[in-house]
Amino acid sequence: MIHKPRISMHAATPPCTRTHQIGALLLVISTFFLTRLLDQSLPATYPVNLDRRTSFPGSLSLKIYVYYESEIDGLYSLLYGRDGNIDGNHCLKGQWGTQVKIHRLFLESRYRTMKKEEADLFFVPAYVKCVRMMGGLNDKEINQTYVKVLSQMPYFRRSGGRDHIFVFPSGAGAHLFKSWATYINRSIILTPEGDRTDKRDTSAFDTWKDIIIPGNVDDGMTKYGDTIVQPLPLLKRKYLANFLGRAQGKVARLQLIELAKQYPDKLESPELKLKGPDKLGRAEYFEHLRNAKFCLAPRGESSWTLRFYESFFVECVPVILSDQVELPFQNVIDYAQISIKWPSTRIGPRLLEYLESISDKEIAEMITRGKQIRCFWVYAPESQPCSATQGILWELQKKVRQFHQSAETFWLHNGSIVNRNLVEFANWKPPLPLP
Ligand SMILES: *[C@@H]1O[C@H](CO)[C@@H](O)[C@H](O)[C@H]1NC(C)=O
Ligand SMILES: *[C@@H]1O[C@H](CO)[C@@H](O)[C@H](O)[C@H]1NC(C)=O
Ligand SMILES: *[C@@H]1O[C@H](CO)[C@@H](O)[C@H](O)[C@H]1NC(C)=O
Repeated sequence: MIHKPRISMHAATPPCTRTHQIGALLLVISTFFLTRLLDQSLPATYPVNLDRRTSFPGSLSLKIYVYYESEIDGLYSLLYGRDGNIDGNHCLKGQWGTQVKIHRLFLESRYRTMKKEEADLFFVPAYVKCVRMMGGLNDKEINQTYVKVLSQMPYFRRSGGRDHIFVFPSGAGAHLFKSWATYINRSIILTPEGDRTDKRDTSAFDTWKDIIIPGNVDDGMTKYGDTIVQPLPLLKRKYLANFLGRAQGKVARLQLIELAKQYPDKLESPELKLKGPDKLGRAEYFEHLRNAKFCLAPRGESSWTLRFYESFFVECVPVILSDQVELPFQNVIDYAQISIKWPSTRIGPRLLEYLESISDKEIAEMITRGKQIRCFWVYAPESQPCSATQGILWELQKKVRQFHQSAETFWLHNGSIVNRNLVEFANWKPPLPLP
């Protein structure tokens, strides 16, 4: 990912003209038909599975304001820790890298605006998952810093947070910010986690306002050309299915490890460790993952699992064993065409029998369809016709409102926005009262 300086990003991108939009539309439609004819002969990244009833890239009309880290007291520490020494590039790696990637993509986006007055949406950057793991902030500090940051944002106050976007890249979702339910429960939350009910009373995810994003698959697997490992031909795969992960004391995972002991030539499921000789290296992990026709994706600490997304790049059919899972971009992707979801309460010989009953031809067809949509898991620049970035922008487009309001926002005959004390918006001074 190229991180260009800020100034050029804005000026360099030509506006999306009507001609561009029509061009993009024609491209998508013609690709759709072409791929039906030619199937595998086109690059695997075109959104051929797009339902043409939904909106296309050309029809986006979005203005997103990205808060500067220096603009608001406290924001800097949500990105780099209390001492400012957490490295953003470090936070880019691993399954939680989306918190950095999405920020950088928005900084370079043609939909970025430098003017708050005209913005439809506001992006609040934070790398808190990484910062917390690296000891840059503890839970208490994260909570207090978020509250401090929000109280300095008049635009947040104006809409009660409805037009503000936050990324929470891990299974904890918005719970990373302890008092999220008080302060950002109306905001748009981007998270791979659509469920967080196992250890909490409430899920931080709301189907109507939040957006499920794909997990961050290792860049070494998603790039063109020399990926870390190449997929194996179906006939060369040693196993019917595999599960390569830590047991984490989870019932379904332990059941898979036991099942593998009973059927060692069908199912590969060693109990992996985080450290020591049983930990797989990066390449080793993908070498194992590609060696089965089906990659089993049971839930871990939470419902979403990166393995689901990784399956598409080693070209095994993912079998979801996580009942509460929520998947991204359901408006354009028909998951029944590219994956299997099996009840997590029915892990046993019957699952293996069922998977064995599926012919190689059917498996190959699912894999081919999976190759056509896996571009949606790649955090590529928005210039690519199909990417996670495009998917997220389309979802955000649906959240755009013509108007911004909250229970504490009022308007007059002449368009003036005022607060309960009839103070005009331009004179709202931080710190602002929050719920
Ligand atoms: C989060 O911070 C706010 C403001 O300092 C405080 O009122 C609230 O109790 C904190 N939440 C938790 C869970 O500590
Ligand atoms: C959001 O938080 C406010 C203040 O705590 C509360 O009154 C409201 O019910 C919450 N809304 C949702 C949708 O949870
Ligand atoms: C709108 O009307 C209010 C009340 O009469 C006035 O105080 C305010 O300055 C007006 N705003 C504009 C933008 O004219």
